[in-house]
Amino acid sequence: MKHKRALRAAVTIAVTGALAAGMTLALTSAASAGTTLGTSAAEKGRYFGAAVATGKLSTSAYTTILNREFNSVVPENEMKWDATEPQQGQFNYSGGDRLVSHAQANGMSVRGHTLLWHAQQPGWAQGMSGSALRNAAINHVTQVATHFRGKIYAWDVVNEAFADGGSGGRRDSNLQRTGNDWIEAAFRAARAADPGAKLCYNDYNTDGINAKSTGIYNMVRDFRSRGVPIDCVGFQSHLGTSLAGDYQANLQRFADLGVDVQITELDVMTGGNQANIYGSVTRACLAVSRCTGITTWGVRDCDSWRGSDNALLFDCNGNKKAAYTAVLDALNGGSTPPTTPPPGSGVDTSAWYVLLNRNSGKALDVYANATTDGARISQWTRNNGTNQQWQFVDSGSGWYRLKARSSSKVLDVYNFSTADGAAIVQWADGNGTNQQFRLASSADGYVRLINRNSGKAVEVQGSSTADGGNVVQYADWGGSNQQWQLVRIG
Ligand code: G3I
Repeated sequence: MKHKRALRAAVTIAVTGALAAGMTLALTSAASAGTTLGTSAAEKGRYFGAAVATGKLSTSAYTTILNREFNSVVPENEMKWDATEPQQGQFNYSGGDRLVSHAQANGMSVRGHTLLWHAQQPGWAQGMSGSALRNAAINHVTQVATHFRGKIYAWDVVNEAFADGGSGGRRDSNLQRTGNDWIEAAFRAARAADPGAKLCYNDYNTDGINAKSTGIYNMVRDFRSRGVPIDCVGFQSHLGTSLAGDYQANLQRFADLGVDVQITELDVMTGGNQANIYGSVTRACLAVSRCTGITTWGVRDCDSWRGSDNALLFDCNGNKKAAYTAVLDALNGGSTPPTTPPPGSGVDTSAWYVLLNRNSGKALDVYANATTDGARISQWTRNNGTNQQWQFVDSGSGWYRLKARSSSKVLDVYNFSTADGAAIVQWADGNGTNQQFRLASSADGYVRLINRNSGKAVEVQGSSTADGGNVVQYADWGGSNQQWQLVRIG
């Protein structure tokens, strides 16, 4: 028996080209799966954006990813008060204009960030108070929104004006001390200056139903009832290692007030749960019809303000991470729930499934499309190839063989091994107990595949997230590298 380790042929993925997003996002009826974040989001009538530091636009490694994957941008710092009005009444739009030009040349929409914020104020404003500050702030809103009129999809008119903690009230700041109506005054000025832009309130630590998000909710409800012009709420979503269970419900309650919602500054702490959280956030947005788009706060891990958190979708070399795959799969899966059959109800033995590993987001794959007995099974970026499609063949009593569409061979624990780390290969279907697996239920619709002969689980060795990562058996301990999602594709 040979373990043929042929080099894998390059997978050719058709890139459908960047869809223009802009302010006229069109819902397409195409059921096709996009191959980039932007095209996949556009197929769902949404945008997928990134915060951009304009200084990096001349770095080709950076711009290549930006232009390929994203169809919306937001300036990370260039439209803030300190950048646009460094001296009172003297405006500098160079950074913002540069980003708008780049976006227009590449069919991207632009979020404007941010007209008023307690942070990153120019020194002259920090020293002001009372009506002088109020007048200066409203003039700033009017001037900047007028300059960019017609070029901005949505403005973060006011950023981070609510306090953390349990009060549900406003944050103390020089702006707040000019009077509680400073926020609505800003929204009215922004509407007058650019009637075509959606006007958003944007904040963080609003990822579930809590005192802070409820304070904002009450403000939005009040604004809507009094006709204060507000169109959207941004949820920054700077996340740690878990996601609030009511994240989606929180988005929905705001949408139910009649405003759009957007995920505006998404980044997630690195760790075993990063890909899952990214996937969950994406699915939550897709499940809320008024959630119009998602923006990550940067492109590559090394571009992020969060430094060693490695919080973004691309590593520092520009490689796609497991989190990227989780987002793309979620976008392509749309708002449909996971297609894993409920354990006990059996699988559809006439269907073809792609099996996605929970930890890596990658698909169970016959390495190099081999058709030989003993060929190794690996994980690979999902491409829906026939070497990633599996059919469950009924062995009775809840046991199944998994047949590869490309080779018609079945998943097989090599040589009836019962050892941890033993290879999972493909082999001609003999209905051996080393070829039979049952589905054990994990959380969220994921399953483990338990071999009948050894009692061990099919896992991605060493929790690898790399293409080509080895698939082996190991004692069933329920790890995320032992959990698989069954995505029915045919
Ligand atoms: O450009 C100067 C540089 O010349 C100088 O030498 C250096 C010294 O520290 O500072 C540089 O400016 C920094 C700027 O980023 C550009 O890199 C500022 O110090 C630094 O404070 C600023 O940080 C930005 C931060 O907002 C300011 O609060 C981050 O880039 C930006 O990612 C971050 O973004 C915020 C959103 O606007 C609102 N929500 C939270 C989010 C993350 O903090």
